[in-house]
Amino acid sequence: MKTPRVKDPETFFSSIFKKATKTERSHDPTVMALASNDVNGVVTVRYVLFKGFKNGKLCFASNYESRKGLGFEKYPNVAASFYWHNMYTQVRIEGIVEKFNDVESDALWNSRPLESQVSAFLSYQSQPLRKTFKELKLAHKEQLHHLKQLQVKALPRPDFWGGYWIVPTRFEFWFGQANRLHERISYIRNPKNKSKRWTIENLYP
Ligand SMILES: Cc1cc2nc3c(=O)[nH]c(=O)nc-3n(C[C@H](O)[C@H](O)[C@H](O)COP(=O)(O)O)c2cc1C
Repeated sequence: MKTPRVKDPETFFSSIFKKATKTERSHDPTVMALASNDVNGVVTVRYVLFKGFKNGKLCFASNYESRKGLGFEKYPNVAASFYWHNMYTQVRIEGIVEKFNDVESDALWNSRPLESQVSAFLSYQSQPLRKTFKELKLAHKEQLHHLKQLQVKALPRPDFWGGYWIVPTRFEFWFGQANRLHERISYIRNPKNKSKRWTIENLYP
């Protein structure tokens, strides 16, 4: 892949992600690995769905009371990574998580189908299941059926569910090469530096 020298990583990321939505047909290009600390400082990683990039910030949605959600309150530093196989490209991002405001979370919640809204209501994400999985599935089916009978099209967003922004402090673009001499470009910004300028460096593979 051609790697133009782009001054800001936001534009670079957006153009590469756009390409990934066209090339990555066999897997969802929005799947993003997200590493963080839980409340005890234990490093933990999971996949979430990348929901968009706005004003230089990435977003995703989750349960605010999940293991990750509680961990963010104490340790807001996170790291994310995408791998787009068909482009042999990895993008790594480090930054700070911030919660969406209510209007932003409502918009994201309202974009979800009723089935997913019911699932969110039934899930105490990351806590031990207090029933069998079969019972949980039945509860979902019954709730959905009940709501459809009442012609309910959407539920109000619960307080424990919402979006997060990742405010990036570092991007790294990795372009794989067949000879293993991979190209890496990092963009680093000191969050305390008001100029918002990115320091760009090439890294050894
Ligand atoms: C492909 C994929 C996409 C996922 N997307 C999300 C998501 O957008 N938000 C979310 O909270 N969990 C998502 N999950 C589930 C998480 O990986 C994880 O199981 C859950 O968030 C609980 O993580 P925690 O216990 O670290 O808080 C996804 C899982 C997979 C495999």
